[in-house]
Amino acid sequence: MADFSNKVVYQVYPKSFKDSNGDGIGDLRGIIEKLDYLQELGIDYLWLTPVFLSPQNDNGYDVADYCSIDPVFGSMQEMEELIAQGEKRGIGIMLDMVFNHTSTAHEWFRKALAGEEEYQDYYIFKEGNPDQPPTNWESKFGGPAWEYVPSLHKWYLHLFDVTQADLNWENPKVRQELKKVILFWKEKGVRGFRFDVVNLISKPEVYEDDLEGDGRRFYSDGPHVHEYLKELTRDTGIDEMVTVGEMSSTSLKDCIRYSDPEEKELSMCFSFHHLKVDYKDGDKWSLMKPDRMALKKLFEDWQMGMQEGNGWNALFWCNHDQPRIVSRMGDEKQYWKESAKMLAASIHLMRGTPYIYQGEELGMTNAHYCHISQYRDVESLNYYRILLEQGKTEKEALTILAARSRDNGRTPMQWSDRINAGFTEGMPWIEAAENYRKINAEAQMQEEDSIRSFYKKLITLRKEKNVISIGTIAFFEKENPDILAFKRIYKDEEMIVLNNLTSEETTVLADPSWQGYQKILGNYECSRIENNRITLKPFETILLEKQEDEP
Ligand code: GLC
Ligand code: CA
Repeated sequence: MADFSNKVVYQVYPKSFKDSNGDGIGDLRGIIEKLDYLQELGIDYLWLTPVFLSPQNDNGYDVADYCSIDPVFGSMQEMEELIAQGEKRGIGIMLDMVFNHTSTAHEWFRKALAGEEEYQDYYIFKEGNPDQPPTNWESKFGGPAWEYVPSLHKWYLHLFDVTQADLNWENPKVRQELKKVILFWKEKGVRGFRFDVVNLISKPEVYEDDLEGDGRRFYSDGPHVHEYLKELTRDTGIDEMVTVGEMSSTSLKDCIRYSDPEEKELSMCFSFHHLKVDYKDGDKWSLMKPDRMALKKLFEDWQMGMQEGNGWNALFWCNHDQPRIVSRMGDEKQYWKESAKMLAASIHLMRGTPYIYQGEELGMTNAHYCHISQYRDVESLNYYRILLEQGKTEKEALTILAARSRDNGRTPMQWSDRINAGFTEGMPWIEAAENYRKINAEAQMQEEDSIRSFYKKLITLRKEKNVISIGTIAFFEKENPDILAFKRIYKDEEMIVLNNLTSEETTVLADPSWQGYQKILGNYECSRIENNRITLKPFETILLEKQEDEP
C-alpha cells in the first residue's frame, strides 16, 4: 500500500463548481477551466462526486450506469481530457464509487423488476405481503427502508432513497461486475477512488427488527465487509492507488482494519463522529451547540487509536453532506477569517491526509435560506415534511434546515463578485449564498492574508515538514474544553499546535521545554507568548516549532 501522508485532496461537487455552458449546472468543462486555480492551491488529488449517468434523485449518488458520463456534466471525451489535463498539472483524479446501491433506473434493477431472477439476486428482495415490510429498519433519508413491488410480491431494501436499491454483495456476480467498473476507470488513467458508504455493503445473514434503533447496528461494518474490501483491492490491483472509504456509524476498531496497510483494504477512512457533536441526543434534526469537550475527546481517541493501531485518518470538516464548518464551529460574523483559519490548522496539522471541500479554502458559509422553495436536497425536503408532521412550526423546521441541510454545502462555488458568484451565466440550479460579493476566490487570490493563502501555507508546510506528515501525535490540555492542543514529533523535529476553539481570550501555561520554540504560523500577526504562558486571542491558532540547537 502506498503512503499518502504528504498529499492533500480537494473535493469537487461538480454540480456546484463551475458551469461552462449556461444551463445553470456545473460540468466537467467547468472543472477543466479551473484546474489552474487548483494547481495554484497546491493540491495533489481531485475527488469528484459522481458524474455517472443518473436520474439525479440524489445528485448522482443514484447511478444508472457506472461507465458512462451523465450528459448534464459532459461527455466521456471531456472526462478523458480532465484526466489528462489534471495529470499535466500533477493532479490525480479520484472518482466516487457508489457500490452500496444502484439507481432503480440501472439496467440490473430494471431486469430484476421485469422478473429476471438472476438480476433479482443482484439486490435484496424479500418475499412478503404488502402491509408488512420484512423489518422495521428506517431509510437514512426518512421513512421505511423497504419498498414493495406489487408485480413481484416482494420488497426490496433501500437504506437511502427509494430509487437507490441496495446491492447484494453476497452474490459473487455483483462483486465481479463492480470490479469491472474499477478496472474500466483505472484503464482510463484515474488515480484513485472514494467508496461511498462502503461499510454498509455487507448485510446480516438474518433480517430482523431492530428494537433499539433504525437497523444500522445490523449492517454497519457488517459481517463480511473486510473480506469484500480485500477481495476488491486484490482483484483490481488498486492497492497502490489512493482509496478512501466513507464509513457510516463506524467503529475505531473497524477503521483501523480498513486502513492498516497490512490489511490491504483501503488507504484511509472518513468517519463522522466528530461531526455529530452538535446533534442533540445523536439526532441530526435536533439542534445543540457543539460540545467541545466531546469533540476534543473524539479527536484524541481517533488520532491516538489510529496511531497505535497503524491505521490512517482522512482529515476533514466539510463535504457535500455537511453544513459549512465556519458557520458551525466558528463565528462567521465577528471572527470569520480567524475562525476559518483556526479550523483549517486544527485538522491539517493532525496525523492523516487532509481533504479540502470546494469553497472551504475561501471560508464559504452556510446558505442562510429562509424559504423551503430554496432547498433542493431530497433528504432536506423529506425531513422538512417529517418535522412538520412531528408538530414543528414552519419557522422551527426552517431554522433546523438552515443549520443542518446538506444544501449548505452545495451552494455555488463563489468565484467572484459577479452575478451568481461567477458560477454560471444562466439560472443556477441552486441559489448562491448572498455573501459572495465579499467571500469569493477572486478577492482572496489577491490577498496575502486571506483564508485561501492560509490553506496554501498549510499545504506547503505539509510537504516541507516530515513532522507534519509522518510525525507522532500526543494531546495535552486534555481537560480544557476551550483549547485543542497537541504535539507532533519526528526524530529531532517537534511542533506544538494550540487552537483556541472559542471567541473568548484564553491562556495556556507554557511548558519550560518550549523555550526556544518559535511561532512559524498563526492567524494573528502578533501573539502574546510570555515565558510561562501564552494568551490565545479569539479563535487563535499558533504553530510553534522547535528550533535546532545552536552548535
Ligand atoms: C453518501 C454520500 C451522500 C449520499 C449517500 C447515498 O453518504 O456522501 O451524498 O446521499 O451516500 O449514496
Ligand atoms: Ca452546465
